[in-house]
Amino acid sequence: MSEKKAIIMGASSGMGKELATILSVNNFIVGLAARRINLLEELQKKLPGKTYIKQIDVTKPEEAGRKFRELIAEMDGVDLIIISSGYGDMNRDLDWKIEKETIDVNVSGFTLIADIAFPYFISKGAGHLVGISSVAALRGLRGSPSYSASKAYISNYLEGLRQRAVRSRKPIYVTDIMPGFVKTAMSKGNNLFWVASAREAAAQIYEAIRKKKNLAYITRRWRLIAWLMKLMPDWLYNKL
Ligand SMILES: NC(=O)c1ccc[n+]([C@@H]2O[C@H](COP(=O)([O-])OP(=O)(O)OC[C@H]3O[C@@H](n4cnc5c(N)ncnc54)[C@H](OP(=O)(O)O)[C@@H]3O)[C@@H](O)[C@H]2O)c1
Repeated sequence: MSEKKAIIMGASSGMGKELATILSVNNFIVGLAARRINLLEELQKKLPGKTYIKQIDVTKPEEAGRKFRELIAEMDGVDLIIISSGYGDMNRDLDWKIEKETIDVNVSGFTLIADIAFPYFISKGAGHLVGISSVAALRGLRGSPSYSASKAYISNYLEGLRQRAVRSRKPIYVTDIMPGFVKTAMSKGNNLFWVASAREAAAQIYEAIRKKKNLAYITRRWRLIAWLMKLMPDWLYNKL
């Protein structure tokens, strides 16, 4: 069987790093991208299969766009692009610095990469785009309004691209990954529950990718929380 090729934007840590390992073990040639090049180099040494690395900061659109296209060209094409890069922090004081970083990475940065990936797959006639949103996308969160809003943006954006993919009648797939709590540098706070390890989360994400799912809650039981969040009336939600 011929090797498939994947790029992970945000491969230096957390779920992106674990996904890189799973893909490499499963015979994918993997392109690893993020800002912390030292971590990408360390990861590259550990992975069993062929890898490429590229230092990319998605908040620098011109340079990031050029480098992302370069990476696709260096790999001589790609079948799967996963956008795992993300930023989030609690922001009770609505500190603009946190809001801006959230918007720059999760909204502008995400859109930049998605808008290179999707037209690339359309021109190639096949491909799979995966974005990591969050169950936080389902309702606004008082502790981090920009984070929940940015994740709602990602989910809606992916749905729009999926509609285009279906109408293209080409084998192009778009998967929205909605994790609950996963133990990574990003998960902060004391009231966390059902916390998955990054490895467990990545294993379930890989399964969702393999099955070409439209949407996957990670871990699976977060589907229940999602259902509750969507159904909960405002008066009750506001008391939480
Ligand atoms: N952990 C959770 O509980 C949880 C829950 C739901 C959704 N998520 C989402 O899952 C995704 C992965 O996060 P994680 O939990 O695995 O945390 P993480 O370990 O902090 O991973 C974040 C990744 O994003 C990259 N990144 C951040 N800013 C970037 C930038 N400007 N340019 C390029 N890459 C950038 C980081 O790489 P560099 O710093 O090296 O650039 C890192 O590889 C995120 O989108 C996050 O919002 C996480």
